[in-house]
Amino acid sequence: MSKRVAVSFAAMLAATVATFGMPAFAADEPITPIEAAKITNPGLVELGKKLYFDPRLSKSGFISCNSCHNLSMGGTDNLKTSIGHNWQQGPINSPTVLNSSLNVAQFWDGRAMTLQEQAGGPIANPGEMGSTHALAIEVLRSIPEYVQEFKDVFGETKITIEEVTKAIAAFEETLVTPNARFDKWLKGDKKALTTAEVEGYELFKDSGCTACHNGSAAGGNTFQKMGVVEPYKTNNPAEGRIAVTKEEADRFNFKVPTLRNVALTYPYFHDGQAATLTDAVDVMGRIQLGKKFSPDENAKIVAFLKTLTGDQPSFALPILPPSTDKTPQPKPFD
Ligand code: HEC
Ligand code: HEC
Repeated sequence: MSKRVAVSFAAMLAATVATFGMPAFAADEPITPIEAAKITNPGLVELGKKLYFDPRLSKSGFISCNSCHNLSMGGTDNLKTSIGHNWQQGPINSPTVLNSSLNVAQFWDGRAMTLQEQAGGPIANPGEMGSTHALAIEVLRSIPEYVQEFKDVFGETKITIEEVTKAIAAFEETLVTPNARFDKWLKGDKKALTTAEVEGYELFKDSGCTACHNGSAAGGNTFQKMGVVEPYKTNNPAEGRIAVTKEEADRFNFKVPTLRNVALTYPYFHDGQAATLTDAVDVMGRIQLGKKFSPDENAKIVAFLKTLTGDQPSFALPILPPSTDKTPQPKPFD
């Protein structure tokens, strides 16, 4: 008797918590909705947007952040690996910048802790934008409209790389994608998904995908082994997190990618080897979980993954101030 009382008390407590203590959406789901970005410093974001689109931060005058993280294409380049300065073949697949503010760290191996720290990297990377921080700053200082805009945002300033990366990071923080159909479903609109999509989500959970792909970004929050059950075969030399920690246990651990907008961010994996979602789901099932999905199961999981596409960032294309007689000339071919 007393045991039964205890059980029903626990059930009541759970019901009370579910009614009053939790947000309105299904709080026990492993994936939670993405909320819209709150912009606290619009001037900083506007400046960051210009810099994100400005190819003059590269040596060639041709490559901007948007070249490899194209906001018209899910924040990626949709290439196996990126093309850098002078048509160099990049070493690794370009991850999306969408929702990157939700990542535990940046890059596949997490070697940058913050978006601001990350943003300085590509400008001076010889295989990416091929410039130097000094040259990029010289270019910006030669353009009076930029000088004025930095002054408006930062107060009296000579323009520094820290200001450049801070502005770019502030813009990137706005690149979140709320209102995916899946989020509407999570928030209680049961008509937002089809039966097949819900079945796909159930399969995704029951198979164990949510052990690694969870939270509001459905990933991005841990480093995990690529090839838990079976080794992953690739010619790509990237070793994963061990490059940062030097710990043998981190060999071939990669940041779990977000599955938000995954329908737009093909091809998949750090080496870009999976051309389609069907391929990626098949590989994940086999090598992470030891499961071979039937074509019907695979199609349902893919259908679910496609419901994770949210509202894409939308704004007027920034018009960049023109170069002046003092602006260092672009060098596209050396
Ligand atoms: C030549 C192509 C290229 C250019 C240009 C480029 N990136 Fe990237 N970006 C990449 C690649 C490739 C990676 C992954 C590198 C790695 O993990 O080792 C990456 C990683 C990132 C990440 C980390 C995302 C994650 O989930 O880990 C962010 C954020 C990012 N870039 C922002 C930028 C910004 C901001 C600029 C401009 C200043 C820029 N990128 C310029 C190719 C590029
Ligand atoms: C043990 C952790 C783990 C489990 C379980 C897991 N994943 Fe992954 N997933 C990862 C990691 C790590 C990567 C990136 C690996 C790489 O590129 O080397 C990844 C990548 C992916 C990608 C490619 C995303 C991109 O942008 O490149 C998809 C799609 C995916 N997983 C779906 C699934 C599905 C579906 C399941 C369940 C069948 C699943 N994952 C189970 C860790 C996991």
